[in-house]
Amino acid sequence: MTVRKTAEESVLQKAPEHWTFFRQWLRSPLSIAAISPSSQHLARCMLAELPPDARRVIELGGGTGVFTAALLQHGIAPEDLLVLELNPELHRHLAARFPQLQVVCADARELPRIVAQTGFADGRPADAVLSGLGLLSMGRDTQCAILKAAFAVLAPHGRMVQFTYGPTCPVRAEVLEELGLEARRGQVTWRNVPPAAVWVFTRKGEGRAARPPAEG
Ligand SMILES: C[S@@+](CC[C@H](N)C(=O)[O-])C[C@H]1O[C@@H](n2cnc3c(N)ncnc32)[C@H](O)[C@@H]1O
Repeated sequence: MTVRKTAEESVLQKAPEHWTFFRQWLRSPLSIAAISPSSQHLARCMLAELPPDARRVIELGGGTGVFTAALLQHGIAPEDLLVLELNPELHRHLAARFPQLQVVCADARELPRIVAQTGFADGRPADAVLSGLGLLSMGRDTQCAILKAAFAVLAPHGRMVQFTYGPTCPVRAEVLEELGLEARRGQVTWRNVPPAAVWVFTRKGEGRAARPPAEG
C-alpha cells in the first residue's frame, strides 16, 4: 500500500498522460503491463526496426500514444496507420489525441476482422505491426493468437516489432515454431522505465534485414 502510494505521488508530479496511464494500470495491471508510458528513446529503438520502405503500419496497444506520435513524425501517413487499444479509457484518450487516425477499441486477437471492417489500406497487407502489448505476461494461447492475427495481415516480407522488459525473447519458442516464425533481438535501451529490449519477428527466412546501429 505504501509502495503504491509513493508511486502514485511520483506519477502525479508528471504529465496528465502518465496519470491516465497509471490509473489504468491500478485497475488492470496485467493487461496494461507497465506503470508508465514508454520513453521517446524506446520509441526510437522500435521505429529503427521498421522496414526502410514501410508504408502501412498497424500499432497494437497504443496506450497514451507515444509510438503513435513517433510513427506520424516518422512520416507514416494517417490513412496508412491503424491503432488498436483494448482499454476503453486509453482508447478515448487516443481517439481525442489523434482525430486524424483510425483508432479502434479492440482486442489484438481480432486484428484480421478489424482490418476487414475498417477497410484499412484498401485491403493491402501491412508492412509492419508495432506492438506495445505486454506479451511477456500473457499465456501461451494468447501469445499464439496475437502473433497469428498479426501475421495474417502482414505482407510476406512484413515484420512485427515488439518490446519487452525481460532478458529473453518475450514469445515462447514453441509459439514461434508453431507459427513458422523467427525472432531477432534489436536494440536495448536503458533510457526507459524499466529498461527494455526490442524484438523483431519475421516469417522464417525473411529476417535478414539490416540491423540498425546499437543504442546505449
Ligand atoms: C505496456 S502498455 C504500452 C502502451 C504504449 N504502447 C506505450 O508503449 O507506452 C500495453 C498496452 O496494450 C493494451 N492492451 C493490452 N492487451 C491488449 C489487447 N489484447 N489488445 C489491444 N490492446 C491491448 C493495454 O491496454 C496498454 O495500453
